Formats: sequence, structure tokens, C-alpha cells
Amino acid sequence: MTENNRFIQAGVIGWPISHSLSPRLHGYWLKEHDINGVYEPLAIPPDSLRLFLLKLASQEFAGVNITVPHKEAAVAHMDTLDDNARRIGAVNTVVVQEGTLYGGNTDGFGFMENLKDGAPDWAANQGPVTVLGAGGAARAIVAALLEAGVGELRLVNRTRERADQLAKEIGGAITVIDWDKRTSALEEIGLLVNTTTLGMKDKDPLDLDLENLPASAVVTDIVYTPLITPLLTTARQLGNPVVDGLGMLLHQARPGFFFWFGVKPEVTDALRAFILEGLEEC
Ligand code: ATR
Repeated sequence: MTENNRFIQAGVIGWPISHSLSPRLHGYWLKEHDINGVYEPLAIPPDSLRLFLLKLASQEFAGVNITVPHKEAAVAHMDTLDDNARRIGAVNTVVVQEGTLYGGNTDGFGFMENLKDGAPDWAANQGPVTVLGAGGAARAIVAALLEAGVGELRLVNRTRERADQLAKEIGGAITVIDWDKRTSALEEIGLLVNTTTLGMKDKDPLDLDLENLPASAVVTDIVYTPLITPLLTTARQLGNPVVDGLGMLLHQARPGFFFWFGVKPEVTDALRAFILEGLEEC
């Protein structure tokens, strides 16, 4: 129950928004904690983003999540940005504070928490990490991995310039490797992360030979449709520990829920099952 049982409103903005699982996720926690609040999907086209965010501070909202395609564009409309969102250049969580907008980015937090849950024995000092992809998700993940103490991060992307740009902007121990050298980028690593869209339902599979992958390397994919991607299936058959991508979605939502509704929510097996049911309905 919230303080004085005051009604609290939050939501997620994107375009389109109908497939977002965030309303189902926050709705589960609202019910679980008996909170007098709502979390709504809000379809905001790109040309309305500025006006929506201008108005947000004066509305009844406690804040919003921001999803595709607005994460980068929203940066310019925040009154305050946390260091992480500034470094990544993208906002996914907005908190309305005394009529001003505070923007943060919890995608890297979600990734690291999911990794902790799924591969509790992985440690940042267990060898190099290879990240495939250099899009928005990769930026947050690369920053979080470096922050966690990874000493060598190999960044492999089809479009090399995009990886070079990411390495320049994020800084730190990143080595950019060409896409056609991706097999050799797996030598001696402790963790492999797929942040590309390859392997997603209705997309091309990820064409990656795992012959150089050490047997102990953890393999994780941020794609969660399907939950076990072809990459994870192959890695599992080789005996490598694997971590699916659903937990990143669940964990990235925790800080926003806490800011807005004042309760620290948990990621449980029951929540995972409830969200998986929602995925099947999509
Ligand atoms: P997100 O913001 O979710 O990370 P994105 O910015 O569209 O999404 O990035 C998608 C990633 O998948 C990029 O790294 C992209 O590579 P490019 O930078 O070369 O576009 C990668 N990707 C998508 N299709 C690919 C393909 N067929 N082969 C290799 N990489 C691909």
C-alpha cells in the first residue's frame, strides 16, 4: 500500500507500443504489492516526443519508461541526466521530481543483474569478454561490463565504423574486431554476449562458429524471442553455461518501479512464468 494510499501514475512511451511487456510486468508488481497505481502503455510518435516530455513534468505522472525509438532522442529533453545515461547517450527511465525530469538508464543494470542470476560464478576478471553488436543495447551493456571491471572487451560489429564510434564514446579497454574475424574473437574469453538482432524470431540466425569458445565461457543473448536462441542451444550442447535474455527486461524495470511506487520489487520464478505467458500471447 502506498503512503496515504495516494494514486500513482506511470507508463511506458514508444512507437509502436502495443507489443511492450512492461505494462504486464509493472502491473504484476502493482498487484503483488497492493499499490494504488497504474502503469500504462503510451503510443507516442517521434514528432510528438518533445511535447509529451514537456508536458510530463506538469502532469500527474510519477515518471515513465522510454523504449524504441525514443531512448536517444529523449536525452535532450531531460532537466537532469545521471552519469550512466549521459555516458550511454540514451534514457530508459524518467522520474518526475518537483516538476523537472530526471533521466537515467537501467539497461546495463538489468543486464548485469540477469548475468548475476543466471551465471553466479562469472566474474569480471575471468578473461576477455566478446560483445557482438554495436547498437543501443550494446552501448549500455559495454558500459556496464567495463564498470564491472572487465579488463579486455572485444567489440565485433558488422558495420565497423559503428563499433569504432561506440569505443570512442564509451572509452576504456575496448578492442574493435571486424565481423569476419568473429570466430577468432572467441579465443580465451570468459563471456560471450549477443546484442545483435540475429537469432530473433523471423530474423536471420546468427552465423557464428563456436569452435574457439572455451568450455567454461558463459554465453548470453539479449534476444528473448525465442527464449532459447539458436546460439544458446548450440552453446548448451557444447556444455557452456548459458543465460537467456528475459531477465534483463525484468531487472531493468526494478529501479523505475522503486522510484515511482516506493517499493523494491523482486524478480521471481512466478514473475518470469507470468511474463513468458504474455510473450506466448504476442
Ligand atoms: P538495438 O538498439 O536494439 O541494439 P540496433 O541499433 O538496430 O538495435 O542494433 C542492431 C545490431 O544488430 C547492430 O549491431 C547491427 O549491426 P550494424 O551496426 O552493422 O547494423 C546488428 N545486426 C542486425 N542485422 C545484422 C546482420 N544481418 N548481420 C550482422 N549484424 C546485424
